[in-house]
Amino acid sequence: MSMKNMLNNGGLKIYANALDSIGNTPLIRLGRVHTGPVNVWAKMECIQPGGSVKDRAAKMSIETALQTGKLQPGQSVVEMTSGNMGAGLAVVCGVYGHPFIATMSEGNSPQRAVMLRGLGAEVVLVPQVNGLPGQVTGDDIEAAAQAARRIAQEQGAYYVDQFHAPHGIIAHEQGTAQEILTALDGSVDAFVAIVGSGGTFVGVSRGLKKHNAAIRCVAVEPKDAEILAGKQIKKKQHMLQGTGYGFIPPLWDPSLPDAFMAVSDEEAQVMRYRLAAEEGLYVGFSAAANVVAAVKFAHSGVLHSGANIVTILCDTGLKYS
Ligand SMILES: Cc1ncc(COP(=O)(O)O)c(C=O)c1O
Repeated sequence: MSMKNMLNNGGLKIYANALDSIGNTPLIRLGRVHTGPVNVWAKMECIQPGGSVKDRAAKMSIETALQTGKLQPGQSVVEMTSGNMGAGLAVVCGVYGHPFIATMSEGNSPQRAVMLRGLGAEVVLVPQVNGLPGQVTGDDIEAAAQAARRIAQEQGAYYVDQFHAPHGIIAHEQGTAQEILTALDGSVDAFVAIVGSGGTFVGVSRGLKKHNAAIRCVAVEPKDAEILAGKQIKKKQHMLQGTGYGFIPPLWDPSLPDAFMAVSDEEAQVMRYRLAAEEGLYVGFSAAANVVAAVKFAHSGVLHSGANIVTILCDTGLKYS
C-alpha cells in the first residue's frame, strides 16, 4: 500500500519521504493583526521542508524533468535563486540523489546560504551589481542567472530556470488554488500575493478564477517598484527579498490581476514584527507585505462583511538577518 497521505491511528499524516509532505499547508485566520467584518486567512507555505512557498515549484520542476528524460539519474542540477527556490531544490535533489548547485546574489541574507549548504547544496555567491545587502535588484539576479547558465554549460548540469519554466504556475494552479477552495468550501472572495517569478500569483489566481471568475486577485509589489501596475520604477532597492525585481516576469499574465497594491519596507517591517508578536507567526518580509496588502484590501470597502481573503506566508523568518 502506498504511504502517500496515509493517516495513522491517531488521524495524523505520515509520509514515505519529505517530498510527499510538500503542499496541503493549513490556513490560519489572522484575528489579531486584523479585526473586522472581512476575514484574512494566511496559507502556511513557510512550514514546508525547504521553509518556503517555492517547494512546490521545485518538486514539480525536478519530477517533470525526470519524467520527460531532460534530467538523467544522478545528473547535477543548477539554479539561480534568492534562496527559497534553492532550498526547495536542495530538498528535492537530496531525496532523488542529484548534486545541486545554487547561484545566489551576495545581497540575499546569509542565512539562506547557511541553509542551502546545510541541505548539501554547493552555493556560488555572485557579487551584487547595484543592490545593497538585504536588497537585491533585477540586475543582481540577472548576474546570478548568468552564473547558473555558465555552470550548466561547463558542467553539463540541468538548469531549472524558474523564471521561464511553467512548473511553479502549474503547481500552484493544481495544488495551492484547489487546497484554498477545499479549505474554505469554495467560499473565497479575494486572493492577495506578491510577485517574484509570478508562479504563486499567476497559478493560484488562474485556479481560483477558473472556479469563480468573480474572485478578486490582488498583485502586491514593493512601493516605488510597481512595474506590474504600469508605473515607473523610482527605486530598485527594497527589503522584500525574492520579489519586485523591476521587470515583468516572462510568464506574467496581465489578464489576472483585478487590483495592484504597493507595500513599503516600513509597513512590511512593522507587520513582520506584529505577526510574530501577536499571531505567533515568525515569517519573512514578503509574507508580511502580503498581510499588509490583504489588510488594506479588507478595509477597502470592496468586499462584503464575512468575505474571505486568502494570502500567502511565503517563507520563515529564520531565513533573515
Ligand atoms: C521570500 C519570497 N517571497 C515571495 C516569492 C515569490 O514567489 P513567486 O516566485 O512564486 O512569485 C519568492 C520567490 O522566490 C520568495 O523567495
